[in-house]
Amino acid sequence: MQKIKINLGPKTYDIEIEAGILEKIGGKIKDFVHGEKIAIITDTNVDPIYGEILENSLKKEGYIVQRIVFKAGEQSKNLQVLEKVYSELSDFGLTRSDLIITLGGGVTGDLGGFAAATFLRGVDFIQVPTSLLAQIDSSVGGKVAVDLPSGKNLAGNFYQPKAVYIDPKLLKTLPKKYLHDGFAEAIKYSCIRDIELFEKFESMNTDEDIINSSEEIIFRCCSIKGKIVEGDEFDKGERMVLNFGHTIGHAVEKYYGFNKYTHGEGVGIGMIRITDTTEKLNITEKGTTERIKNLLEKFNLPTSVTLKSCEIHEIIKMDKKKSGSKITIVLLKKLGQGELLKIDFKNIGEYII
Ligand code: GLY
Repeated sequence: MQKIKINLGPKTYDIEIEAGILEKIGGKIKDFVHGEKIAIITDTNVDPIYGEILENSLKKEGYIVQRIVFKAGEQSKNLQVLEKVYSELSDFGLTRSDLIITLGGGVTGDLGGFAAATFLRGVDFIQVPTSLLAQIDSSVGGKVAVDLPSGKNLAGNFYQPKAVYIDPKLLKTLPKKYLHDGFAEAIKYSCIRDIELFEKFESMNTDEDIINSSEEIIFRCCSIKGKIVEGDEFDKGERMVLNFGHTIGHAVEKYYGFNKYTHGEGVGIGMIRITDTTEKLNITEKGTTERIKNLLEKFNLPTSVTLKSCEIHEIIKMDKKKSGSKITIVLLKKLGQGELLKIDFKNIGEYII
């Protein structure tokens, strides 16, 4: 078992990583969850496999439990589904001293976390992420949100969970496409902060290698993210380094209607496109792009798209990472060393070509 403390003053919480932890969650929370009721928010993919296991673990400790299940998919991360979740929470009679647990991938954590942040002006919640992407990224750091018709994650908040319980065993049922989705994000962490992890990835060859090292990968990525979040909870400075590859990646995801490329695939394409340029500008150590590209290709992740830079710039114009006439881009000095560069948006064409 690995434990990481996220030090955020009164909002401090632990991330626990352990194979089989899903069955033990009831026992783990009984010392600090004193309410009677727990609502599990989950989706139609995850509920049939893991919903009952979590429910039984909670009931064994005497909690009254209700599972709230919504249709799996990003298209559910909206205000209509949120309203249905609120109704079910009300019908269940959840009070402010009770608890919400989100059980699922990024959509569930974001939607369920936003419900927790806003229902009755805030109910405690715990994240139990089931996809690699959620286990190393979205379940940590308190970003919760739903999408609006005008864009992704546009109605949201920073609302820290009381704990995050990560069970690497759950990755065995994750479709390969989503294992790679999360792995691309793990590569991103290694690029910005952990050259040794990058070298470990270079020595791996198969999906089995990812699964076999998943506890260590999750621990190292969450440790990096935890440190960054401790220093910049509200995403005003250093936390932006987590967006390496994301500005272009989001544009790629959006251009193709969010159904051609996964988030991780977009990030992989974005990391290559920006690094290729900064390497040519002599900002990034030579050879960096090639090493990232080789790694992504080894795990069948795309590294380029035929999307013109002017189309990318148009989409980035609407990005919430833009601030007034400026935009912060993330680049690498070398592997393991990501840095921020604030530029005038009018100069974006120098970096995204
Ligand atoms: N996923 C980036 C962040 O949490 O800041």
